[in-house]
Amino acid sequence: MSGKQSGLYTVVANKSISDDTFRLAVAWENAPPGAGQFFLIKSGRSSVILGRPISAAHYDGRAVHFLIMKIGTGTRELAETREGETVFMIGPLGNGWSDFLPEAPQNGKPIALVSGGLGCAPLLYFAEELAARASPSFHFYAGFSTASPWLTGMTASLPVPPQKLIVTTDDGSDGEKGVVTDALDARAYAAVFSCGATAMLKAVAAVCAKAGIPCFISVENHMACGVGACLGCAVKTASGNKRCCADGPVFNAREVIFA
Ligand code: FES
Repeated sequence: MSGKQSGLYTVVANKSISDDTFRLAVAWENAPPGAGQFFLIKSGRSSVILGRPISAAHYDGRAVHFLIMKIGTGTRELAETREGETVFMIGPLGNGWSDFLPEAPQNGKPIALVSGGLGCAPLLYFAEELAARASPSFHFYAGFSTASPWLTGMTASLPVPPQKLIVTTDDGSDGEKGVVTDALDARAYAAVFSCGATAMLKAVAAVCAKAGIPCFISVENHMACGVGACLGCAVKTASGNKRCCADGPVFNAREVIFA
């Protein structure tokens, strides 16, 4: 994975995509982050001490793009940054989805990317990586609470679209009504890669375990240092506590002990 950098980087675009979500693009002249890796980010004139951990959603050759929800002071400050201003970033951090591809059986089946809400962002970036390879092919499942413009806009930018795109919404306002695990037949896949809220990851892991299919999940956790030093992001696993920031954020779901 790419070497970590830190410093002030220039915002090249910042666009609102819904009432509470925005897409931030930051100039990045270093090696591209791997899909699944994240950065600690805060506004260059922020009042907060710690950057927010945000996964890369896209890399266009000159800027890293992030999809960010306004959920606190740090992210609201980021939402207000304008083109030409700076953000402070540390990254890329953590492991990536592709580290786990060798663990997916090569049985001719596609892999499934299964997201909940903004969990679609790092998986869409992974889809870009997959699209650049000859195999495996992939299907994309995206669950939302209600209809969302995010996925349409993001999938339109993929060099190769997924063979199959399944959208679910809790209220039935787009795609199939229900939760994303309702639509997922894990037995159809060589492996499942998933990102979203913990309850959703737990449900996806359970579906895969029942079907005997490998499942890899990106775990969300509170973070402080982001570099493996403070032990403030412990994830309970079958082999003891692991650091989400340094040992993850992607884990084999079989290893993770959910609360
Ligand atoms: S955030 Fe400090 S060890 Fe992970």
